[in-house]
Amino acid sequence: MTVADIDATIPNNVDLAGDRRLQRALESWQPRFIEWWMELGPVAFQDNDVYLRTAIAVGQEGWANFGYVKMPDYRWGIFLADPEADRRVGFGDHRGDPVWQEVPGEYRADLRRLVVVQGDTEPASVEQQRALCLTAPSLYDLRNLFQVNVEEGRHLWAMVYLLHRYFGRDGRDEADEMLERHSGDQDNPRILGAFNEPTPDWLSFFFFTYFTDRDGKFQLASLRESGFDPLSRTCDFMLKEEAYHMFVGATGVGRVVQRTVELMKEHDTDDIGPHGGIDLATLQRYLNFHYSVSLDLFGAETSTNAANYYAAGLKGRFQEAKRDDDHRLQSASRTVPCVAGGHLAEREAPALAALNETLRDDYIADCQKGVERWNRALAEVDGELVLPHVGFNRGVGEFAAHRLSPDGRLLTDDEWSTGVSAWLPTDEDRAHVESLMVGVSEPGKMAGWMAAPSTGIHQKPVDYEYVRG
Ligand SMILES: [Fe+2]
Ligand SMILES: [Fe+2]
Repeated sequence: MTVADIDATIPNNVDLAGDRRLQRALESWQPRFIEWWMELGPVAFQDNDVYLRTAIAVGQEGWANFGYVKMPDYRWGIFLADPEADRRVGFGDHRGDPVWQEVPGEYRADLRRLVVVQGDTEPASVEQQRALCLTAPSLYDLRNLFQVNVEEGRHLWAMVYLLHRYFGRDGRDEADEMLERHSGDQDNPRILGAFNEPTPDWLSFFFFTYFTDRDGKFQLASLRESGFDPLSRTCDFMLKEEAYHMFVGATGVGRVVQRTVELMKEHDTDDIGPHGGIDLATLQRYLNFHYSVSLDLFGAETSTNAANYYAAGLKGRFQEAKRDDDHRLQSASRTVPCVAGGHLAEREAPALAALNETLRDDYIADCQKGVERWNRALAEVDGELVLPHVGFNRGVGEFAAHRLSPDGRLLTDDEWSTGVSAWLPTDEDRAHVESLMVGVSEPGKMAGWMAAPSTGIHQKPVDYEYVRG
């Protein structure tokens, strides 16, 4: 059990007070983080009281405090899950060895890269979402946006701690660069594509938290398996917070779907745009977009890096321990999708090289569950949402060079141009969605395009004043 020092300048459970050099380094990074937050975090409400949860410990019996906080005063801390006694590397060439408490020299560059790529996504999403606070559909949703934002900030702290503590000078430089790259910046963009796409409206936000934060879940879950124990413990605790971000997405889309169904029944038409709703075809196009850009985040179907990370014990598979195989995969193989001779096909690939595809498969199965829940509501109006084919609208890997329809047909460029307005959000869709984005600030009131949540936050009523002042 690690003791949390929650009153320190930087709240932590890593005994920061016992390492003065590290403490000083992080305390000098802290004001730059706040500067970044003020400049590129939420564009308004920085002086308001927001009903937020703050991590104060990592234990089973509760790890968060709920209360009103002004966002710049949020207590961003460094929390690692408690160490597991006698933990062993669970996969790869070092399977069975005791886990590492310091970075093995030969894996330094690879581990640093993994931490930097993960870390970069955290502030990126805050930047992408910064203007949404002006158009929140309710105070409840506004508060949820801010909760996600401050926690992404804390996840950045988690990664910056690892960089400072374990990667020396290079790590400190990388930590600085986390605040220098900006989402969508022409000259210095964030590392991954989906994190440079704007999040211009709340429908995009809900699909982003459903699909893109879920990529985060799968990346963190495979880094939790890492033989580098501090990374594993960091990701383990981040996953606890991440679950809420996906809840925001799943229930957010669910409430939009519910309202769409209500309006379709009330007006006896699919065309509910004129009645202030978002029709099913538009929802499907937004889904198609966010799902396909999130699939790209898993990388190419086969990857030498992925194979090396696994063999080295740095990044495992989702739920590695539950898998019934040798956890080394040196002689295993699997099929991966490809395009050959103008047709969709499959090719055999070494399982080690195909680990990105394996993680993508696990992600797709997880995405499908929420879609099925939404479809239970849509059954009332004989509607449904579907995940498009894995090759649709891809910018990374085998399908990047091909055009596929959502139902998985290979298309010519002409067919794509003719069809795309039915498959991806159009200017018209975006204009309509934007026209619905009007901030609602009266407690308990909801914008007309989405249903109210079934319960409030932390046993507070739905009409609680989640943001005040
Ligand atoms: Fe995160
Ligand atoms: Fe997240």
